[in-house]
Amino acid sequence: MRHPVSTAQEALELVSSVESTIEDLMVEHTERRDHWYFQDFIPWEQGRNYVDEPWDPSHATLRPEVCDALVVNLLTEDNLPYYYSLFQPFFGQDHPLTKWSRLWTAEEGQHAIAMRAYLLTSRNCDPRALEDQRMSTVETGWFGNFGDIAQMFCYTSAQELATRISHRNAGVKSDDETAHALMSKVARDENHHFIFYRGVAQAMFDQNPNLMVLSLREVLNNFAMPGTGIPGFQRRALKMAKLGIYNLRIHAENIVDPLVKFWKIGDLTDLSPEAAAAQEEIMAMVPDMLERAEKFERRVERSAKRATASV
Ligand SMILES: [Fe+2]
Ligand SMILES: [Fe+2]
Repeated sequence: MRHPVSTAQEALELVSSVESTIEDLMVEHTERRDHWYFQDFIPWEQGRNYVDEPWDPSHATLRPEVCDALVVNLLTEDNLPYYYSLFQPFFGQDHPLTKWSRLWTAEEGQHAIAMRAYLLTSRNCDPRALEDQRMSTVETGWFGNFGDIAQMFCYTSAQELATRISHRNAGVKSDDETAHALMSKVARDENHHFIFYRGVAQAMFDQNPNLMVLSLREVLNNFAMPGTGIPGFQRRALKMAKLGIYNLRIHAENIVDPLVKFWKIGDLTDLSPEAAAAQEEIMAMVPDMLERAEKFERRVERSAKRATASV
């Protein structure tokens, strides 16, 4: 469990103090979002009956590691009920954050529907295994174990951005026009969610930088995607890392660095001694991650050379 860096009440009051920003950002979001329909992206003409023609691995047209990445990303979307429950216990039905949770849920819902329709229609995954894994993932559940609600906004900012990058890269690496177009569309939605959470967190930084810097350090030190309950997640995450869909370098360069820069963490002044120590720790994170990423890349390169030499 992440450590609380505030009393729960203090964090709740901080969220309440930015209520009007939440309302404004939600209006901006609804104006910005593009209302798309998943059925326009599915190659329905490729669909065949699974009873008459059971799935066989030879039906897949994408590389196995790309199929695996798409399945992991889909199963992460399937865990939607747990994301919906994140902000639910805190405010009444008419609170802007509760309204946002409902809208967010409705939009995220289409992602799983769309990706499942694509994978099943194009026969790029075993439908029985996919359903078994969905059951197992949702039964395992996901509980962010956040210390307080302020940490949730630091987390959702990073997580939505990470999801955007992972979806987009999975589409790019697919070398398939349909998968690319669909995943780009989904990634655009994730970007809009990211802009919302990042904006709320910015308003919270403006109100209480001490608390937010401590929250951010806690979240970044313990960051894990919400897919950790997916069967074989570590093995599949490693494949995604090697393929360049999501790895430590991407995490450092495309998630942590832009967030630290956007929230101007390095420029915050008049912090408490604890918050100043957290600020310093956060500022050292990207160089440290990049150093570890280089080591990983060298290891991957060495094992690729060994594999080529042994052929
Ligand atoms: Fe999503
Ligand atoms: Fe999202």
